[in-house]
Amino acid sequence: MIILGIETSCDETAAAVVEKNEDKINVLSNVVASSQDMHAKSGGIIPEVAAREQVKSVIPVIKQSLADANVSSEDLHAIAVTVGPGLIGSLLVGVETAKTLAMLWDKPIVPINHLHGHIYSCFVEHAPEFPALALIVSGGHTDFVYMKGHGEFEWLGGTRDDAAGEAFDKTARIIGLGYPGGPAISKASDKYLENNPNKKLDLFPRPMTDQDNLDMSFSGLKTSVNNYLKSSENKNTDEIAAEIEEAIIDTLIKKSSLAIKKYRPKSFLLAGGVSANKRLREKLDLALQSITESTKFYVSPLKYTGDNATMIATTGLYLFQPIDWKEVKATPSLHF
Ligand code: KG4
Ligand code: ZN
Repeated sequence: MIILGIETSCDETAAAVVEKNEDKINVLSNVVASSQDMHAKSGGIIPEVAAREQVKSVIPVIKQSLADANVSSEDLHAIAVTVGPGLIGSLLVGVETAKTLAMLWDKPIVPINHLHGHIYSCFVEHAPEFPALALIVSGGHTDFVYMKGHGEFEWLGGTRDDAAGEAFDKTARIIGLGYPGGPAISKASDKYLENNPNKKLDLFPRPMTDQDNLDMSFSGLKTSVNNYLKSSENKNTDEIAAEIEEAIIDTLIKKSSLAIKKYRPKSFLLAGGVSANKRLREKLDLALQSITESTKFYVSPLKYTGDNATMIATTGLYLFQPIDWKEVKATPSLHF
């Protein structure tokens, strides 16, 4: 089966053609256009600017994905499109484009939850065993999800306020690093740690890590960083970046360790934009190895950590529930 995936829930416009034979996923094309450079200038995403850019790029991106895959519309079995959660203007661009193409090409649509998509990025190159426990860490979400099987999602806990990526983005702005904040903080932190590999990084709090649940809170980090800047002589941005990164990573690792101990899954999946963070990938891997050998660690391939349509098409192939285009609706606050 071959599916065209479309993803426009935030500031990316992405299309991909993906094929599934038995349990093997074959990515025929993966095209992503981002308006991130424009948002870097404004220091964050302006929803209307994002949607206007997506209107311009959605058709060229889809055309490119079909050309790269060397397929035509006749070869497709369905169109998988992100219907939520996300920004309404952005979601509508992808959803309405998918509906138009579905009508013209006489194809069904597989509506996809963006968060399921992030989880399924771990199924593109591997076939993790169930039960699986997933940690999604993105700009809008930080959630633990338990999966007994394909399509069976049970939300276990997550952030009560800011998402981990949001914490990176907002604190990066406070210390004068650019947008998106995650990669900027990671780069500054690496620079600092190269020269100070043994520095103890415990400046900022790790809220809720003493609690026996999978809830987290990242919104206080902004205040902690602000207070530190006001009260301290230390203006070493790279060092503060390393402290911020460690506070976020440490919280995620402590809660992931607790999740593994409680649920003993066969697979632990890490996905979402923040999962691109090298230190998080490495430290989580070590932490999980020290807890158990019976849980295998899978992390999203780097090219599929951020928003992309390969993960959307892959979800569509695994959870194939096609519906008529007339029934498809963008749902900005869609839950698990
Ligand atoms: O999944 P994603 O591309 O979009 C959403 O669905 O939100 O995630 C974007 C988030 C941003 O907050 C960005 O700062 C963060 O992922 N991010 C990172 C890194 N690369 C991207 N955070 C930490 N370290 C990174 N290397
Ligand atoms: Zn995302």
